[in-house]
Amino acid sequence: MSSIVERFQQAGQGQVFAFLSQLSPEAQRTLQAEAAEIDLAEIAGLTRSLLGPGGAAAANLNGLEPTPYEARPENGGRGASWSEAKSVGESALRGGRVAAFTVAGGQGTRLGYDGPKGTFPVTPLRQKTLFQVFAEKIRATGLRYGRPIPWYIMTSNQNHAATEAFFAEHRWFGLDRGRVHLFRQGRMPAVDFTGRILLETPGSIALSPDGHGGSLRALERSGAIAQMKADGVDTISYFQVDNPLVRCVDPTFIGWHIRGRSEVSSKMVPKAYAEEKVGLFCRQGGKTVVVEYSDLPMERQREIDPVSGRLRFLAGSIAIHVLDREFVHRVATGGADVALPFHRADKKIATVDAAGAPVWPEKPNGVKFELFVFDALPFARNPLVIETRREDDFAPVKNADGLDSPVTCREAQVAQFGRWLAANGAALPAGPLPAIEVSPSFGYDEDSFADSWRQRHPKPVVAPGLYLD
Ligand code: UTP
Repeated sequence: MSSIVERFQQAGQGQVFAFLSQLSPEAQRTLQAEAAEIDLAEIAGLTRSLLGPGGAAAANLNGLEPTPYEARPENGGRGASWSEAKSVGESALRGGRVAAFTVAGGQGTRLGYDGPKGTFPVTPLRQKTLFQVFAEKIRATGLRYGRPIPWYIMTSNQNHAATEAFFAEHRWFGLDRGRVHLFRQGRMPAVDFTGRILLETPGSIALSPDGHGGSLRALERSGAIAQMKADGVDTISYFQVDNPLVRCVDPTFIGWHIRGRSEVSSKMVPKAYAEEKVGLFCRQGGKTVVVEYSDLPMERQREIDPVSGRLRFLAGSIAIHVLDREFVHRVATGGADVALPFHRADKKIATVDAAGAPVWPEKPNGVKFELFVFDALPFARNPLVIETRREDDFAPVKNADGLDSPVTCREAQVAQFGRWLAANGAALPAGPLPAIEVSPSFGYDEDSFADSWRQRHPKPVVAPGLYLD
């Protein structure tokens, strides 16, 4: 018997190989290779800590306070500091110090789209995909600052090949192929409520991506961190695949980060209303933390700050960060002192019964383990929380309809294009804005848009179907 089978049996996980003798030699090898990815000691530890008594305990809210943050100039921040941050960020871009980083390994279950989420069409007229929007923004930013920006994209085992094929089919959207780096994130096995690893089929383990927090170890393991170091990149601009409004590489945000010698900086938007379902930046024991909305009792989320008259816990997280390269290296290689904690998510997990027949559970039958990137914050030196305007950075596509859907995302894009036009003196038609689109090559933020608009003669009329590029 191979040693891996023995190791699983000794760990009480022999069920993983229950059907081994019925598999072809090739299928046996595949199953064993999957098993080899699993750290049995880690699973045993998680079973004790997350599935044992008290494993589903409430989050620790002791001493939780709202976090301070850098307010935007119109909300009381110092205009001079914002300008200074911008010029620091612009120099970093001119110096080639910045990489863009997209986490695209999620399963996108809520959207229910068949394919990597980055291949989902989002723009109002041209139906550009998320990946195309980011590629064009990254390309245009590189051109503006005279240095091409490397782009790292984290995929999962499930979507890696399809993502790569998509980029190849579209000739890497005009980017230099050598500067787009795709790598897979790690996987974790799903377990039942007693910690036994589940099979998805008789010949495969129920493995799924290890959460966006897996990006730190995946950056290290894939060689991305070493590559950045070799290329003189020390600053990583992190964003999610589902948000086409994001400024992929925002000089001012990057400048705040560099100027503050921060290891992790995060963008915040003031929560729109107390019940809004976003994570909250807080302080606890001298550290910056993110508390999930479901973990903070609603009466606390409704507390009002007596001075400002606004919500006391105001700082909503929109999953946009800047990471210091050496910090990622330290967390990814630093052992227990800086290890991100796993979270448990109870899920319906397709599995097999004792005879190997498929089982599609109707209620959660097991647990997935996931890492969250914001759990790195407490380990970071000088973490900064920087305010942004929601309409400049955040309109994710999460759900098929309703909130955060393709419809709301399209509306947010059109509204942004309308704001840029109006700010530069264009006459907008009366009534609701018609479907219009601005290509990132024309403008990907206020400044780049204003520059292109100034040079465009004659000025186009803002009418349905206007496409600026
Ligand atoms: P979400 O939390 O929205 O999860 O991910 P999801 O898997 O994309 O979607 P649902 O919940 O199944 O509907 C936020 C971001 O983190 C990435 C996603 O690709 C998205 O950009 N992510 C999430 C990963 O890269 N890996 C993961 O394991 C999980």
